[in-house]
Amino acid sequence: MVSLLDVRPADRVLEVGFGPGLAITELARLATRGHVHGSDHSEVMVRRASRHNADAIRAGRVELVRAPAERLPAFGEPFDAVLAVNTVGFWPDPAERLRDLRCLLRPGGRIALASQPRCPGAARATTARAAVELQDLRAEAGFAGFRTETLPLDPPVACVVAVNPALDPRGQGGQDG
Ligand SMILES: C[S@@+](CC[C@H](N)C(=O)[O-])C[C@H]1O[C@@H](n2cnc3c(N)ncnc32)[C@H](O)[C@@H]1O
Repeated sequence: MVSLLDVRPADRVLEVGFGPGLAITELARLATRGHVHGSDHSEVMVRRASRHNADAIRAGRVELVRAPAERLPAFGEPFDAVLAVNTVGFWPDPAERLRDLRCLLRPGGRIALASQPRCPGAARATTARAAVELQDLRAEAGFAGFRTETLPLDPPVACVVAVNPALDPRGQGGQDG
């Protein structure tokens, strides 16, 4: 997932719903001159991810906060990239949350969303449906230029990468391309 996001050394990156913080580590490894922020609503996950990324936090390269997707703090400068893995399905009103994230992304900034269905009997078809759901959400939120990838795990992981096309997500909305 992190590799699909094409993180560059100077990027400012946000991960929402980081869980144990494994992707945060990888993001920090790539954004060597940038900054990685993360938010998760679980105190347990913030503690675990903070332990896992203790060195990068001490070095001031990673900041993790406890905050729900529906009440994200102000992060300062706009982000170049946003990541959300296996968490969008837990958010209240996910399309509205994705619009919030568009507000935090610079124009041209990238977002990567992933979903690995875990319901009993989940298989390729379940993943295909999850991919369509993510595509629909990103379209509703006005993200453009999307591509979909399937990571060949068991069950497969649906990934959608899209771009923030405009300055004002609550204005005209985006266009596909
Ligand atoms: C299935 S885990 C995925 C964790 C991590 N992204 C990964 O792939 O390993 C879902 C994560 O989303 C977080 N989460 C669920 N609802 C959330 C919300 N409304 N706002 C922020 N985080 C949320 C949970 O605390 C948990 O860490």
